[in-house]
Amino acid sequence: MIYLDNAATSFPKPPQVIRAVTGAMEKLGANPGRGGHCLALRAGRVVQACREEAARLLGMEQPERVIFTKNCTESINLAISGVLKQGDEVLCSHGEHNAVMRLLKRFAAWGQISLRTLPPDSMGILQPHVLQQHITSRTALVVVCHASNVTGVIQPVERLGAICHENGVPLLVDAAQTAGILDVGPSALRADMVAMPGHKGLLGPHGTGILALGHSMDPEPLMVGGTGSASESMLQPDLLPDRYESGTLNLPGIAGLLQGIRFARRYRSEIHEYECWLNQRFRRQVEGLPGLRLLHHPDAPCVGITSFVVEGMDAGQIADGLNTCGIAVRGGLHCAPAMHQWLGTLQSGAVRISPGIYNTEQEIDDAAAMLERMLLKR
Ligand code: ALA
Repeated sequence: MIYLDNAATSFPKPPQVIRAVTGAMEKLGANPGRGGHCLALRAGRVVQACREEAARLLGMEQPERVIFTKNCTESINLAISGVLKQGDEVLCSHGEHNAVMRLLKRFAAWGQISLRTLPPDSMGILQPHVLQQHITSRTALVVVCHASNVTGVIQPVERLGAICHENGVPLLVDAAQTAGILDVGPSALRADMVAMPGHKGLLGPHGTGILALGHSMDPEPLMVGGTGSASESMLQPDLLPDRYESGTLNLPGIAGLLQGIRFARRYRSEIHEYECWLNQRFRRQVEGLPGLRLLHHPDAPCVGITSFVVEGMDAGQIADGLNTCGIAVRGGLHCAPAMHQWLGTLQSGAVRISPGIYNTEQEIDDAAAMLERMLLKR
């Protein structure tokens, strides 16, 4: 199988990630932060090491502001649900994944907030002056997807963040496709909260995610419960990160994530360069194929994602055809209906290829050749 679906989750993982997961299960099976015995303390040190490694990657001075979650969706739910109040207005980009969109639409449907999706320019980029024009005295949150999981187009988050700061509005960035690939630290992005999965560019296992909380952010917790700290109190502690991490943590996942983050921290710029280069190679080979349209603007800055549609063909049909030939891609709407609406591909869906660090040039050439054969045969 040629796996080209790294935007969904990176695969395979570096061997040290796998060793760390099994090592945690074989040798560290205790509950971190619960109990004072040696195994619980060792498990707690692994969690702390991962938190500190993530803080280094993200340029954060306070590791306790790295909050572990089970995925990017949970990080986004915590960030959004934790800050919004009745009557607030929220602005978001057209590139939002359903992790953001469904939550905001739900609050809007309940009459709790008003929501505006901001229009991008012809390249799919949300221009800072457009954001500025839409901010009002009721704007309580801006949410921006750093890079689209459909087109790969990168938003100018630092400049959008500057506008938010000038207006005193917090910015939440969904870094699902950029964590481990670009610098997604809250300071670098001028963001107040950054949500990310652990299992994509950070190369950790499924079931891991992070919410990076900027200095002044103190959202309400999504969950309350046992934290292993201040147990005499029946109220949720304010202490970070415990305030946000009730219940037993995913120790094997976090042990693997530690190794994934170490890898990503060491090779981040090379990873970005290599994945972009594989994408360009694929694009060059397929762009002239009959009826095929690439969905990103050629001049827009992108991460290593390429989506396309083929006239008269359903995206699912193409993805299934490639799967039959041993090539794993994602066809459909990628949980991003607003983006597909903007692209005009809501009916057809699109086919997405997203190479990762372990893909080779040969695999890219084979996938392009297979696609060409399929399209010429129809
Ligand atoms: N959000 C992930 C994707 O884009 C799962 O495929």
